Amino acid sequence: MNEKIAIYPGSFDPLTNGHLDILARALKIFDKIIVAVAATELKKPLFSIAERLKMIKTATLNLKNVEAESFSGLLVDYALQKKANALIRGLRAVSDFEYEFQMALMNRHLAKHSKNQNHVETVYLMPDEKYTYLSSTLVKEVVRLGGDAKNFVPKFIELALIKKFKSSHAKIYL
Ligand code: COA
Repeated sequence: MNEKIAIYPGSFDPLTNGHLDILARALKIFDKIIVAVAATELKKPLFSIAERLKMIKTATLNLKNVEAESFSGLLVDYALQKKANALIRGLRAVSDFEYEFQMALMNRHLAKHSKNQNHVETVYLMPDEKYTYLSSTLVKEVVRLGGDAKNFVPKFIELALIKKFKSSHAKIYL
């Protein structure tokens, strides 16, 4: 039987416990998940791609069947290249829906009209209620202002955030 491979794309700037929650749920459905860090500067990331990948790899060290990579270009092309026919996204609240709906349909269209006329479906998973209000931006804001982020990110990521904000130029990112 073919291996069921899914891509979990995002900016992961940084990875949060909410992302890890989604990943754990996705692993119950798929044989392999590739956490794919989008190489886009649109969001002016705080962490470099290499830093984000290292964080993801460290946080998922104990999870079998998880890989982390960066990608550029269209997500569907990357998914097809990886022989994945599913994209994982977390749906935290109704406010996520409209953007996600557009993205899922656009990705479906792009895949269908690609050279190989492939099929890519987006699978939405709901995180635990305690993570429904979480976002990477909020975590950065909390740490930057001296708040406690221990319930939102792994400890080593909280420390990496504190270190980053100690260098004054990082403040321009928020
Ligand atoms: N827990 C915590 N936070 C979560 C979360 C969860 N379960 N699920 C989503 N989020 C947060 C993220 O932390 C992020 O927060 P931020 O905005 O504060 O950084 C936000 O929700 C959503 O961002 P993310 O999941 O990183 O997605 P994105 O919208 O930044 O990225 C891509 C979307 C990368 C998947 C999309 O732009 C893409 O596919 N790009 C490639 C180019 C392409 O193919 N474009 C056409 C797409 S139709």
